[in-house]
Amino acid sequence: MKNKLQILRDEFLAKLAQAKNSDLLKEIELEYLSRKGRLSIIMHELKDVGAELRKETGELANNLKHELEAKFLETKRLVQGENNSTEFIDVTLPGTKFKRGHLHPLTQIKRELEDLFASLGFVSLDGPELESDYYNFEALNIPPHHPARDMQDTFYVDLKNKQGDYDLVMRTQTSNMQVRAIQKYGAPLRAIIPGRAYRSEATDARHEHTFYQLEGILIDKNINFSHLKSLMELVGQKLYGPNTKLRMRPKFYPFVEPGSNGEYTCFLCEGKGCRVCKQTGWLEIVGCGLIHPNVLRAAGVDPEEYSGLAFGFGLNRLAMLKYGIDDIRLFNSGDLRFLEQF
Ligand code: DAH
Repeated sequence: MKNKLQILRDEFLAKLAQAKNSDLLKEIELEYLSRKGRLSIIMHELKDVGAELRKETGELANNLKHELEAKFLETKRLVQGENNSTEFIDVTLPGTKFKRGHLHPLTQIKRELEDLFASLGFVSLDGPELESDYYNFEALNIPPHHPARDMQDTFYVDLKNKQGDYDLVMRTQTSNMQVRAIQKYGAPLRAIIPGRAYRSEATDARHEHTFYQLEGILIDKNINFSHLKSLMELVGQKLYGPNTKLRMRPKFYPFVEPGSNGEYTCFLCEGKGCRVCKQTGWLEIVGCGLIHPNVLRAAGVDPEEYSGLAFGFGLNRLAMLKYGIDDIRLFNSGDLRFLEQF
């Protein structure tokens, strides 16, 4: 009996090793493991074995049954796995793409400039958009009835202070942070202030009531116009490439003396004259100058000891030029057809 079991096992395993497809497997299952298969027949014969051997042989037969069934299943899995094309995974196929958003074009330009100024040792500061008349105007050398106030159409806020005066405005410029920053951090100081500003504009393609600026100040001993010029040159080259030239012409801003504009050679025609620069070859990009002594004094810094430079960019204008955007109102429109282009 033991011999029979042994022979059955050897035969079964030999056939199983050859079974390369499910037809052959079925045959083996039928021949050995089915109800009328050879293993069943042997199990039946067990009852004819003498009582003294029955227990031992019975156990052997049972173990063999489990072993053969397990081996059969294992082979079946292997054979089916290899032939089962529905489970095939092509790892070279491209994955499913997620739709991702991206930064607003103004944020992109802002970060580009923040990187440049960080590399020059400038900190980047935030500031209040609801501002006092004092920091937005007076501390910047613009007294209440000075005609310089007319340069900016201001949103005055309909709220009186404790003295009964209207003294709150939506900041018209990020220059509001000049005196605040110096008061807080003292001199020497290098800081930029990117942020939102507001003007009471009748909006059209070139005017918007809410827009972005980037202000910068540098205060130290013996700061002079050459520092300002070289810094503005660097910014132009960062924005528009290494061959960009700078032209500075006097311009009045109450908080600087002397005050200047900064024009760069047009990045499109490189100075020859085109539609973007209105045939002049130059793009007016920045307002700047040496900080007025009155502003330093308002911030508690002695103008005899320290001097400084200041500059301000309109970020919307930079982005409009860079990307050829012809309507400033698109920036705040939230229109995905516009935003998805950047
Ligand atoms: N605040 C000015 C504006 O909004 C821009 C400006 C001009 C800023 C000259 C400056 C500066 O710091 O020195 O038009």
